Amino acid sequence: DGDRLERLAAEIDRDATVVALTGAGISAPSGVPTFRGEDGVWEHFDEGQFTYGRFRSDPEGFWADRVALQRELFGEEYEPNAAHEALAAMGRDGYLDAVLTQNTDGLHRDAADVADRADVADRADRADRAAEDGNRGDDPGAGDDTPAGTGQTPILELHGNARRVRCTDCGRRRDGDPIFDRAADGDLPPTCDCGGIYKPDVVLFGEQLPGAVVQRARTLTRDSDVFLAIGSSLVVEPAASFPREAGATGATVGIVNLESTPVDGAADVVYRDDVTEALPRLRSLLERGADGG
Ligand code: APR
Repeated sequence: DGDRLERLAAEIDRDATVVALTGAGISAPSGVPTFRGEDGVWEHFDEGQFTYGRFRSDPEGFWADRVALQRELFGEEYEPNAAHEALAAMGRDGYLDAVLTQNTDGLHRDAADVADRADVADRADRADRAAEDGNRGDDPGAGDDTPAGTGQTPILELHGNARRVRCTDCGRRRDGDPIFDRAADGDLPPTCDCGGIYKPDVVLFGEQLPGAVVQRARTLTRDSDVFLAIGSSLVVEPAASFPREAGATGATVGIVNLESTPVDGAADVVYRDDVTEALPRLRSLLERGADGG
C-alpha cells in the first residue's frame, strides 16, 4: 500500500496543479457523522425531511427538524483533524491548488486558519454580490470566499456552510449560531429583519448548486494534473463525476477512502486507509521529496 502513496507523491510537485475533492470521511475522525455507512446521518434522519421542497412548503417543520439534526449530530464544536491539517499544510507549501469540499462543517477553513465565522459570512456575501454583479474578474465565485491572491489555497464549499444562514429574500448571510438558538427556542421559522425566512446556507436535496461554484470547481478539475478524492463515497453529483472528468483530461486520479467507491475502477491509485494516516504520510513524502531535491 505504501508504494501507492509514493506513486501519488511522485506526481505531485510545485508545478503540478493538484486538486483535492473531500467528503464526510475527512471529517469523521473529528467526530462529525458521515452520511452513509453504519451510524450515518441517514440512519437517524430521513433525507426527505431536508429537501428544498419541504423547506419551501413547510419551513416551520423543516426548521424544527433541522434544529434536531444540528443538535443531535452536529451539536458539539468540532476541531479539524490531522487530515485537514495535512491538506492545509500542503496548500501552504505549494503542493495543493484547491480544495473542493462537499462538507458543510467549515473544518477546512479552520485548518487553513481562516478568520472567524462572521468574517467568513461577510466575505461570502461580498463574493456572492460580486458573482451576481457578473464581475467575473478575479473575484472568487460564490461559496469560495478565500480572497483570490491571498496565497491561501481556495476552498470551494460545493454544498455551502452549515455555520451560516442566508435570508431567502434579501440574500444576506449571517453567522448561524444565534439563528439556530432562536429556532431552538421556538422561533420557527426564524426570519430576517427584512421579513424573509432564513435558510441554512447549505445546498438542500433538490436545490441547484450555485452555478458559479460548480463552474469554477469543474474548471479546476479539468485543469488538474493530479486529482485526489478523499473521504467521499462518490455517489452524489456533481462531485461523483469530477474524478472521471479529471482523468479524462489527463490527470492522475487518486482515491483515498476506507470503503470502495463506484469510481475506484477509473482511478490510477486507490488507497484504502484512514485519512488521518494517509494524508499526513502523503505530506511527509512530499516534504522528504522536496528535501531530496
Ligand atoms: N478515513 C477514510 N475514509 C473514511 C473515513 C476515514 N476515517 N471515515 C469514513 N470514510 C469514508 C466512508 O467509507 C465513506 O465512503 O468516507 C465516505 C463518506 O461517504 P458519505 O458519508 O456518503 O459522505 P459524502 O461522500 O461526503 O456524501 C456526499 O451526500 O448526503 C449528501 O450533501 C451530503 O455532502 C454530502 C453528500
